[in-house]
Amino acid sequence: DAAEKGGYEHFMLKEIHEQPTAVKTTISPRINNGMPDLSECGLTPEMLKNYRKFFIVACGTAMHAGMVGKYVIEKLARTEVTVDIASEFRYRDPIVTSEDLVIVISQSGETADTKAALHLAHEKGAKVLAVVNVKGSSIAREADMVLYTHAGPEISVASTKAFSVQMAVMYLLAYEMAYAKGTITEEECRRLTAELQKIPEMIEKTMECEDRCKYVASKLITATSLLYIGRGLDYTLSMEGSLKLKEISYIHSESYAAGELKHGTISLVTDGMPVIGVATQSDLLEKTVSNIMEVKSRGAFTITVCKEGTEFSEGVMDEVIEVPVLEDILMPLITVIPLQLVAYYTTVLKGLNVDKPRNLAKSVTVE
Ligand code: G6P
Repeated sequence: DAAEKGGYEHFMLKEIHEQPTAVKTTISPRINNGMPDLSECGLTPEMLKNYRKFFIVACGTAMHAGMVGKYVIEKLARTEVTVDIASEFRYRDPIVTSEDLVIVISQSGETADTKAALHLAHEKGAKVLAVVNVKGSSIAREADMVLYTHAGPEISVASTKAFSVQMAVMYLLAYEMAYAKGTITEEECRRLTAELQKIPEMIEKTMECEDRCKYVASKLITATSLLYIGRGLDYTLSMEGSLKLKEISYIHSESYAAGELKHGTISLVTDGMPVIGVATQSDLLEKTVSNIMEVKSRGAFTITVCKEGTEFSEGVMDEVIEVPVLEDILMPLITVIPLQLVAYYTTVLKGLNVDKPRNLAKSVTVE
């Protein structure tokens, strides 16, 4: 067991630290001569240009990777993407046609609802692209096209490295789609691809916040409830951070779009309640900070994950976790690291079973 954990105390921590390698192994074979190349699965730029609509369907953490994908694809390729939770998609009679591409994302490739969503897409005549980690899994076998994420086996129930590689594939897809559609130039596509290639190294650098995350975790162990807030890409990351924390530490946590707080959730904020703000997006920083100030003035204990060197007015942030500075669109790929580490250390400090939380399964093969 100890050998399997490669010297780490838990699989989750091992898998968090495997992320630089996992991302590198996943993107390297899909970059050809400085440009994204997903042709291995049969997906051509021509096809990407011609699909009428794109749907991304997944469960849990994989769905959050899909949310990041939506933001990045829409931003770069100016094409609408619908993201659905698989168990909702399959029952809402979605308007999918044979001209659409349904992208299913799944670490295990066995999640019952995601599989059912794939079947529904096929019934409607759509093509299905699967982004899957486990080779030869049901979803991989049944999809029309497969892009394997090469994270290696993920043992911890809480998904970490699978999320990062799923995001990495979403970026490659967004780049290829945007270039195919002519919404970015070849030069811009090459530049973005080169930036993506630096991510493994940047994740490594981000790991330097580990001690800081451990310290912040020590402030969370007595909390009974907390909030994660953010806007745009930071909102998608706050959803993932919140899920990670609640699933293993058993602390009730909600993620909220920062701008929506005042429509109800802010009434939950009481003295000392931790609120974790994710604030890495430059154009949204001021707005998010003003939301953090709102909760601070109601007694919240404020923790902010932001770019290195971000300045805040005196007394607004109780704790800050800084991550390296990348261009906004790429920030999710490193911002997830402190969110995973905070969830991990909170759980360890509470003495709970990190790798096998109660009531949860690694792969949910029942509906
Ligand atoms: C379970 C796991 C999650 C995972 C979700 C989707 O709930 O505990 O970590 O995100 O299923 O799994 P999949 O294998 O389809 O990515």
